[in-house]
Amino acid sequence: MRPEFAAAAGAACRARARMDNKRVDIKIVEVGARDGLQNEAARVPAPVKIELIERLAACGLPEIEATSFVSPKWVPQMADAAEVLGGLRPTPRVSYPVLVPNVQGLERAVAAGADHVAVFTAASDAFNLRNINCDIAASLERLRPVVARARQAGLRLRGYVSCVLGCPYQGEVRVADVVRVSAALAGMGCDEISLGDTIGVGTPAKARAMLRAVAGEVPMARLALHFHDTRGQALANIYACIEEGARTVDASVAGLGGCPYARGASGNVATEDLVYMLHGMGLDTGVELPALVETAQWISHRLGREPASKLGRVSKL
Ligand code: HMG
Ligand code: MG
Repeated sequence: MRPEFAAAAGAACRARARMDNKRVDIKIVEVGARDGLQNEAARVPAPVKIELIERLAACGLPEIEATSFVSPKWVPQMADAAEVLGGLRPTPRVSYPVLVPNVQGLERAVAAGADHVAVFTAASDAFNLRNINCDIAASLERLRPVVARARQAGLRLRGYVSCVLGCPYQGEVRVADVVRVSAALAGMGCDEISLGDTIGVGTPAKARAMLRAVAGEVPMARLALHFHDTRGQALANIYACIEEGARTVDASVAGLGGCPYARGASGNVATEDLVYMLHGMGLDTGVELPALVETAQWISHRLGREPASKLGRVSKL
């Protein structure tokens, strides 16, 4: 690792390395099978999803968000959640978190074998109303019993905050609202808070300022970056936030995805482009890049298109 990053890594990184019992500098949370495939117009069969997740696990990714137990009326692409989660071979090294929007979703997830769940809300009332049919305050009330039950059951728990750098319906989102919602989820008992630039409107200085403000209330070691790449800014934003001390980054293989309730949103930063940048910075991720690129090309081929990543399109790494 380069000295300027070594200093920033500090205690947070050592704590995480101990927690995961594995020495990586940056933990990547792969979200393509959920955030990516929830947005596919064509139905992707469950066996293809399972194969994708298992290929990603074989690449060395430590955490792979597998699916979501949301209402199939809202997101039919995730109606096979139980089949997908239930079809995965348990791998001690890999965790398979799943999204749950309410108690009903949590019960379905636990019945299907989940031991790691993620709840979600946004820093924008307008977005929440379209995505989960209630405003911020009501969403936090809805999530309170979900979080309490998940903790009681000993599940690992992540909380997402969407629209941290802007909202497709409201426009600007106040940093104070991002801080407030993040602190509320952390205070309820979410181990990790993932900060979502849902529509990829952020730029590095804005992303860095937002992260610094949230880190004033929730320790940096508990924060993750979840940056969609709609305007090509995701890698630059991540670089700035790593300089700021962030050590967990969400990414989507082949840049799959978007959000069904954020029109025009494109996928998260592509995992292979992220890994290429991080390894170039001397930061270890534990991920095997050639196998990951092959996986990006494989799933893109299955979906009948070119990878959205840069690396997926070059023939020589
Ligand atoms: P609602 O319609 O207000 O809920 O939706 P409801 O409680 O009135 O239920 C309506 C019907 O759905 C009922 O069925 C329920 O049983 C059923 P009916 O009686 O009409 O036959 N239902 C469920 N079925 C299965 N599983 C469940 C469930 N819940 C209710 N869990 C609700 C509210 C939150 C459920 C709905 O709005 C929803 O599911 N929204 C999810 C939308 C979504 O998945 N968006 C994408 C994920 S978020 C994202 O991508 C952002 C992120 O990546 C971060 C970032 O990028 O910023 C995380
Ligand atoms: Mg997302």
